[in-house]
Amino acid sequence: MLASKRTRIILVVSCVTIFFSITFFAYWFCKRKRKESSKEKKLDESERHSDLPFFDLRTLITATDNFSATKKLGQGGFGSVYKGQLVNGQEIAVKRLSKHSGQGMEEFKNEVTLIAKLQHRNLVRLLGCCIHKEEKMLIYEYLPNKSLDYFIFDASRRSHLDWTKRFEIVIGIARGILYLHQDSRLKIIHRDLKASNVLLDSAMNPKISDFGMARMFGEDQIQENTKRVVGTYGYMSPEYAMQGLYSTKSDVFSFGVLLLEIITGRKNTGYINGSPFPNLIGHIWELWKGGTVLDIVDPILCQPFSAQEEISKCIHIGLLCVQEGATHRPTMSAVISMLANDTTLPPPNTPAFIFNQKTSHNADASTSRSGEAVSLNSVTITTLEAR
Ligand SMILES: *[C@@H]1O[C@H](CO)[C@@H](O)[C@H](O)[C@H]1NC(C)=O
Ligand SMILES: *[C@@H]1O[C@H](CO)[C@@H](O)[C@H](O)[C@H]1NC(C)=O
Ligand SMILES: *[C@@H]1O[C@H](CO)[C@@H](O)[C@H](O)[C@H]1NC(C)=O
Repeated sequence: MLASKRTRIILVVSCVTIFFSITFFAYWFCKRKRKESSKEKKLDESERHSDLPFFDLRTLITATDNFSATKKLGQGGFGSVYKGQLVNGQEIAVKRLSKHSGQGMEEFKNEVTLIAKLQHRNLVRLLGCCIHKEEKMLIYEYLPNKSLDYFIFDASRRSHLDWTKRFEIVIGIARGILYLHQDSRLKIIHRDLKASNVLLDSAMNPKISDFGMARMFGEDQIQENTKRVVGTYGYMSPEYAMQGLYSTKSDVFSFGVLLLEIITGRKNTGYINGSPFPNLIGHIWELWKGGTVLDIVDPILCQPFSAQEEISKCIHIGLLCVQEGATHRPTMSAVISMLANDTTLPPPNTPAFIFNQKTSHNADASTSRSGEAVSLNSVTITTLEAR
């Protein structure tokens, strides 16, 4: 009797203990959960914040001396670029977009958010944007050594870039394009690769600029301003120039032109009337067929004899990139593999050097071909003859 009473007491005490323990643990668990989720939320917020790097208009006015003419770095189809310096000393480049870009604000914000996420050592870094009434601006890192055209097309400045450096630049550009084409979250076709869109940092590393512009400014608004050049004469693949069709292979074409320009120090379009060759590609092709292609290489590059084999290989790769048929051109990843490895390269087919006419084409491509090609509706491509 006594024993069973003690047992009952022990039982009750145990039950109470267990009950309190469970309650306590449940309470502790819930509290921890809540704390965690609030931490997550906080992280979410800061992440969202960093996704939308907005600059105040006043900050940019201060940075650029109110967009003074002395700070102007250049003017492109999409607007003017100014050099600026933030209060913390950081140098920036501000691209002030022309007022009537035809793009909605929400769309613009979304694009900036996406493009700000693209990060690659061979792409110019977009730091953010500024939206104020009609004004739209893009803020980029500032690069001190201008652009590739400033060096390779100038007889004395060219000498700063020996073959080793030029080869590094070629590889860097190729990696940047590959990232745009397939490694980034977005698939971006640049559409305006050219020497002046390759900027150089303080160590002369190449950084592709304007890679977001192709995306931001849709196909449809090009028509209203025929002076606006989408793609640049001399770098445009034939299918883009003639039919408005673009794909990753049109960027490969432009890369090929750029590669040949880097090796020769000549502009594809720098050929005067009366020259036996329509352009650089045509000239190289003639020499290639005759087995004397090294004659056109920038003389500065031929100094160490050992470089010549690599230079020949690069010309070969360049010719593969500018082949007339888009499907024959290699992908960017194949290009990088060819540049980096010693492989047997297929012989190039006839390149495209057909479009040295001074015409504007009214392309009216309605259907998109192959998975990749995108069609432009009634895009007016104005080709510039004198560039
Ligand atoms: C900046 O320049 C514009 C005209 O270009 C002028 O209207 C504006 O008041 C100036 N802003 C400042 C802060 O100086
Ligand atoms: C590139 O820029 C750096 C830093 O501004 C400068 O020291 C260097 O001389 C420049 N290189 C060339 C080749 O101009
Ligand atoms: C070089 O070729 C090998 C074999 O084909 C390949 O695995 C490697 O990725 C290539 N290197 C580059 C940089 O593409």
